[in-house]
Amino acid sequence: MNILVTGGAGYIGSHTCVELLNACYDIVVVDNFDNSCMKAVDTIKRITGKDFPFYEVDLLDRENLEKVFIENKIDAVIHFAGLKAVGESTQIPLRYYHNNITGTLILMELMEKYDVNNIVFSSSATVYGMPKSVPITEDFPLSTTNPYGSTKLMLEQIMTDAAKANDKLSVTLLRYFNPIGAHKSGEMGEDPQGIPNNLLPYVAQVAVGKLEKVHVFGNDYPTPDGTGVRDYIHVVDLAIGHLKAIEVRANEPGVHIYNLGTGNGYSVLDIIKSFEKACGKEIPYVIDPRRPGDIAECWANPAKAKRELGWEATRGIEEMCEDSWRWQSTHPNGYNS
Ligand code: NAD
Ligand code: UD1
Repeated sequence: MNILVTGGAGYIGSHTCVELLNACYDIVVVDNFDNSCMKAVDTIKRITGKDFPFYEVDLLDRENLEKVFIENKIDAVIHFAGLKAVGESTQIPLRYYHNNITGTLILMELMEKYDVNNIVFSSSATVYGMPKSVPITEDFPLSTTNPYGSTKLMLEQIMTDAAKANDKLSVTLLRYFNPIGAHKSGEMGEDPQGIPNNLLPYVAQVAVGKLEKVHVFGNDYPTPDGTGVRDYIHVVDLAIGHLKAIEVRANEPGVHIYNLGTGNGYSVLDIIKSFEKACGKEIPYVIDPRRPGDIAECWANPAKAKRELGWEATRGIEEMCEDSWRWQSTHPNGYNS
């Protein structure tokens, strides 16, 4: 099976490409390097010892994206490409809507034209908005609190409508919780531009000495230690979830929705402690006010993915922190180290 991976040079996409190649799928990768670089593509090739066609193309560039479909017989698409920074999306919402929505519309129009009827989409737990309780199941009410989240929810709706109108189309919406960790080799990991917004890359950069201390956003939440609780999932477990979605759901028309999380919640202080253990250093932190828009607790009930896809996360929090540290300590400046 030949799979088009959009955003395949990015954090989750690159790890998924490695797992796809290791499982002997053929892949074609498209990325515009808005938030990634060619070194990530070279690393995928080096880790797997396999070659594949890569196109530096923007999804908004219909003409050049069409060439990818003309030059390759595509069987399925895993669609990672998109802008993902919540804070930035509130400052430049139109760019987020244009990139994420228009880019996906062009992709799906070309899929229709070239009779490609399988798509797996990177959605997010952000579509649950402020969930009333945890753990979260797929049938919880949906809402959003920022333009980034709204692009995810709108795209879920667009893909659902497309599947209703095309009885051959299979859409799998994967709602990720909090991906962290890195490839075991230490050669591939998350490479955020500038100061990281998310907790794990921030902690990792404090550990390596690039940042001074972690700012813990609030310790007065109704959680065991007062800090926010999240469902952190190893990026390789997440990557494997995509393979399962393709194996089980490709060619099964309709809309299939799964939470990809571990079902366990860890607090900000739990993460700092686990990372200290992994790196063998103390990680300084201060307690700051809550970050606007944050919720106290968010973790998945991943039972549906286990039942229907035969998938479950197997890597624990220690392994997530150890793998992050291996990548961060050997690549303090990411792929430019
Ligand atoms: P990432 O930024 O590392 O990867 C996204 C890739 O898409 C980048 O390489 C970027 O250059 C590319 N891209 C963006 N717009 C493009 C366009 N118009 N044309 C071509 N390429 C384009 O992000 P990631 O963490 O790997 O996330 C992958 C997907 O998963 C995103 O859609 C993101 O919203 C979603 N997601 C991520 C998380 C997370 O915490 N990382 C959580 C939930 C959902
Ligand atoms: C963020 C996004 C969410 C996205 C998810 C996965 C926001 C508001 N939400 O969620 O849309 O789906 O990433 O990518 O950005 N924290 C600190 N200090 C820091 C950073 C974070 O204490 O420097 C805390 C947060 O308050 C939270 C936890 O760490 O309790 C995790 O934060 P983060 O990594 O940003 O992820 P989410 O907020 O879960």
